Amino acid sequence: MARDGFTTSFGVIAATLGSAVGLGNIWKFPYLTGANGGAGFLLVYVLATLAVGLPVMISEIAIGRAARADAVSAFARLAPPRQPWWLIGAMGVVAAVLIMAFYSAVAGWVFAYVLKSLAGGALSTDPKVTSAAFGALVADPLQALAWQWLVLAFVGTIILMGVAKGIEAVTKRLMPVLFLLLVLLGVRSLTLPGAGEGLAFLFRPEFSRITPGVVLVAVGLAFFKLSIGMGTMVTYGSYFRADQNIPATAARVMLADLAVSMLAGIAIFPAVFAFGFKPEAGPSLVFITVPAVFASMPAGALFMTAFFVLTAVAATGAMLSIVEVPVAVLSERMGFTRRAATVITLVVIALLGVLPALSQGVAARWKLGGMNAFDLCDSLSSNVLLPIGGILVCVFTGWIWGRDRVAAELSNRGALASGGVVRALRFLVRWVSPVLIVAVMLRGFGIA
Ligand code: PHE
Repeated sequence: MARDGFTTSFGVIAATLGSAVGLGNIWKFPYLTGANGGAGFLLVYVLATLAVGLPVMISEIAIGRAARADAVSAFARLAPPRQPWWLIGAMGVVAAVLIMAFYSAVAGWVFAYVLKSLAGGALSTDPKVTSAAFGALVADPLQALAWQWLVLAFVGTIILMGVAKGIEAVTKRLMPVLFLLLVLLGVRSLTLPGAGEGLAFLFRPEFSRITPGVVLVAVGLAFFKLSIGMGTMVTYGSYFRADQNIPATAARVMLADLAVSMLAGIAIFPAVFAFGFKPEAGPSLVFITVPAVFASMPAGALFMTAFFVLTAVAATGAMLSIVEVPVAVLSERMGFTRRAATVITLVVIALLGVLPALSQGVAARWKLGGMNAFDLCDSLSSNVLLPIGGILVCVFTGWIWGRDRVAAELSNRGALASGGVVRALRFLVRWVSPVLIVAVMLRGFGIA
């Protein structure tokens, strides 16, 4: 059977961008930036995206397209005999399940906020009111779980109905609307009295706050944001067209993704300071701050509804790409039907996701090493599995796969003049990126 693939260049970019842009931009980036001291964190995150994120992203897409297979089979196919590089793909399957366990919970909050905004709820400039509205949602175990399961059922339905590509095309068309809405939100936020303090927080680094732990979280965010280190880009790369310019596509997606995050930051931090929220509020930050900005503009309830609908769309595009890693491995490599693969994957996620979904409420006090289930799934994936996956992808591309084969893939078998790109990429993945990640992880975990 011929493998399915993206048929147009538009489809390629739609899907790749749809995977990268998601809750990472709107929810995780602001909350981590707030919790880790602001501008210094942002600076490290941007540097990590350029020095580590982009090279790994290009490598993964190239690996996927060269092998035209799921994440486990791709490495198995390209590696020399009897070398277990397929383990990168297997780790990716684990990471995908861990990420979905908390991502689907947050997506559930977003879906719930669509309803809340329609009903005009949570719309207030008073931190107490918006915090209470969020608290009531996440502290109620029934609501938290029901929304998470609704999200998983929604994702499953999209895959089983075979309309995932249609959703990606819709996502791509709606992305500019989200972008515009963020611009609008940013303008309102910037014109609030006291907004300057938020801008300074976001753009004036205090270098003393950049600790090894902060650097590790910033690098982890760079991986999470670009959907790399776990085989998503390998899997999506396997659907790329043969004539797609991989480095140019990756660079564009990376820039667009950074732009969305920056806009989200500009929309949120001035308001955080203007209204007296706490930047280190944690995972609730977006949910309590954004309603305050909307409350201070005309037709706020309408705009807020649009905002959460568009965020839900972006989150769905990202979730489709996370789930695609295990689904492709189960169906292509292990012989399950796509239907069975989807159901198995989503049921495992739903079971594992119970604890993270409840961890902002009833299970908040169940901790391991000082972290609740939510933080554990998050930090185990972003700060451990994805960076290790990234190191291995670099080593594989730089030292194992072979110079000529890397060059052939990146130049579309010689159709593109990409000598400089290949040299730069090889230099980075051989000498720079893996060394940086190892150093950051050792220092971040206090090992060296
Ligand atoms: N990049 C997505 C986001 O920012 C999350 C994601 C992580 C998607 C890993 C795929 C793989 O929301």
